[in-house]
Order: sequence, then C-alpha cells, then structure tokens
Amino acid sequence: MTHTTPFGVRLAGTGSALPTRVLTNADFEGMVDTTSEWIVKRTGVHQRQILDESKGECAFELERLAITRAMEAAGIEGSDLDLLIVGSLTSEMRCPSNACRLVEAIGAQPAGAFDLNAACCGFVYSLNVADSLIRSGRHRAIGVIGCDALSPFLDYEERTVSILFGDAAGAVVLVRDDEHPERGCIYQKIESDGRGWENLYMPSRESDVPPNAPHSDVRVGCLRMNGREVYKFAVTKFQQVIEDALEQTGLAVDDVAQFVCHQSNIRIIESAKAKIGLPDEKVYINIDRCGNSSAGSVGLCLDELVRAGRITSGDTVVFVAFGAGLTWASSVWRV
Ligand code: UT7
Repeated sequence: MTHTTPFGVRLAGTGSALPTRVLTNADFEGMVDTTSEWIVKRTGVHQRQILDESKGECAFELERLAITRAMEAAGIEGSDLDLLIVGSLTSEMRCPSNACRLVEAIGAQPAGAFDLNAACCGFVYSLNVADSLIRSGRHRAIGVIGCDALSPFLDYEERTVSILFGDAAGAVVLVRDDEHPERGCIYQKIESDGRGWENLYMPSRESDVPPNAPHSDVRVGCLRMNGREVYKFAVTKFQQVIEDALEQTGLAVDDVAQFVCHQSNIRIIESAKAKIGLPDEKVYINIDRCGNSSAGSVGLCLDELVRAGRITSGDTVVFVAFGAGLTWASSVWRV
C-alpha cells in the first residue's frame, strides 16, 4: 500500500524510557539452570532492564516518560496532539486504556486515545495506523508509543522464556506536513496469521491452554513460548518482510539509511542480514543491553538512532517487526 496525498507526515520528535533494574546473565545463573555463555550464544542478550516495582515503575510510567521526551524533542505540548495510540500488550488495566490515562497525564484532552495490541508489532502497527489517519485528513498530530513491560508476566523459574525479555518504551510524535508531501510513510504492511497463536501466548485461565501444550509448567498469567516454532516463523518472515518492502518501493539496500528491526533474538537479525546482504552499520542492535522488549523495541531503537544523529531529515528508514498473534509488519519512511 503506498500513499499519495498533497501533504506529508513529519516525524517531529522521538523519545524512549527504560526501567532502572538491571538483570544480568550472571543474575540468571543464580536463578535458573543456565549459563551466561548459553544466553549470549542463543539470544545475543547480555543484560536487560526490568521494572523496579518498589520504585513505582510500571508500563504506564515508561510510556509517560517516552511520550514526554518525544513531545519535548518535537517542541509541542500535549494540547497539540489530537490522538494518542499506545501499542502494547501490557497496559495495567483492561479498562481504561493506558492511552486514555496518558491523555490526562500529558494534558492532551480531548485527544482521541486507544491501546493497540499487536504484541511485538505494537509500535509498527501503530505507526502505520497513525500515518494513515493523518493522510486521511482527519488528524494533524498523533503521539505513538510502543511499550511493553513483560517482566511482571514472566515466570522467572522457567529458563527459556524469561532470559529473553526486557522492559522498554519508545515514542514518536507525527505531524501533518503541508510543505513536504514527499515525507512520511511511503509503504506499509500489517498482516497476521492466527493459526500460530499457541506458539506465543499469555493464558488468563487454565482453559486458555490448548491440550498437550508445551511449557505447561509455566504459571498461568505468564508468557508461554514455543521458542523453536516462533524462531522458525520469525527467521523466514523477517527476511520476507524486508524483501517485500524493498521490492514494493523499488528501493535498494544502498538507498536505505537504517533498517530499524524488532530486537527479537540476535540470531534472527543476523540471519536476515546475511541473506539479504545488509551491512552492520544499517541494522541497529541493542538487544545485548536491553533484551527483547516486545512492542518497546523498535521505538527504543529509533530514539537511540535519532539521538545519535544516525537518522536525520531526508533519510529513508525501514521499520520491521513480528511477534505473537502471529503478527508481522513493515513501514518504510522518508523522514
Ligand atoms: O519477540 C517475539 C518473538 N520471539 C522470538 O523471536 C523468540 C524466538 N525464539 C528464540 O529466540 C529461541 O527459540 C530461544 C532463545 C527462546 C530458545 O533458544 P533455542 O536455541 O530455540 O533453544 P531450544 O528451546 O530449542 O532449547 C535447546 C536446548 C534444550 O535442551 P535439550 O532439550 O536440547 O537438552 C533446552 O532445554 O537448550 C535448553 N535450554 C537452555 N539451556 C540453558 C533452553 N533454555 C535454556 C537456558 N539455558 N536458558
């Protein structure tokens, strides 16, 4: 899907937030039967940052910090936003949405607000929805947050799932740009295949668990993952999604400044890099420091890249994610 409107969409500012508790691989060695060497080799993670609940840290707070920093960078106030979208599966309450509570926290009322649950694709799905709503002519300024704080939903007595994830939020402010119609999303894809849902899910009740499901030792209410199946899906899909984005836009790897990818597992990213021929400097990695932060990861990478001056005005950027659902998404931007 490509867009042609007489106005563009400007990525006006980015922000991110990480919680303060650092959980190293050495910490895991004291918690479960694992080694730092195994974790690094199989995932690329050296440490992850997780909520310190004794300090009141929570997903909502990470989201508030990330969008506040994005608004500061954009030079706008909450009252300038007319919509706020939070891509997350870990909002504190079923109702109201974190987006609604954030509207109050940043003084954005009466901006529209909703949470969007597309698991690890939360940020890229939300980015695509936001671009489309601005292109529709109905919205001028939208805050988009991708955040997950999965640590309260991990069973730290189980070693395969818990070692992978960290908590984080990334945010962006998008504004209609009447002077630069070429700016914004030039291609987007949001897709899913529910047939694979039971490979990555968080049961609320025992009856949510399919018969003969693996990892039935993981507590109800915690994330369960059939890592090998998700890995097989991800390693193929990740490559396909990038190739599709390049093919549909007619872009070559050389034309793209950065591929901002969900930090799922270093081996999945390295596999796509090798198969497509993506150079190291165009594929940002922070899974070593931050782990896999689900919907938080792409926005977090974007903010770190922008603040390091590695994404600037005029660049072409490809965002890619995949995750539970199963879901996958891409978004190609002229920044
Ligand atoms: O972001 C959402 C999308 N999610 C993903 O993309 C995750 C995709 N999957 C993965 O990243 C990987 O599957 C994991 C990192 C989760 C697991 O790595 P793996 O190489 O697929 O391990 P495995 O589950 O196939 O297990 C291999 C072996 C098993 O032992 P046996 O049966 O061969 O004796 C496991 O019991 O490794 C064992 N194992 C561990 N050993 C030491 C599993 N976890 C650990 C551990 N430490 N933490």
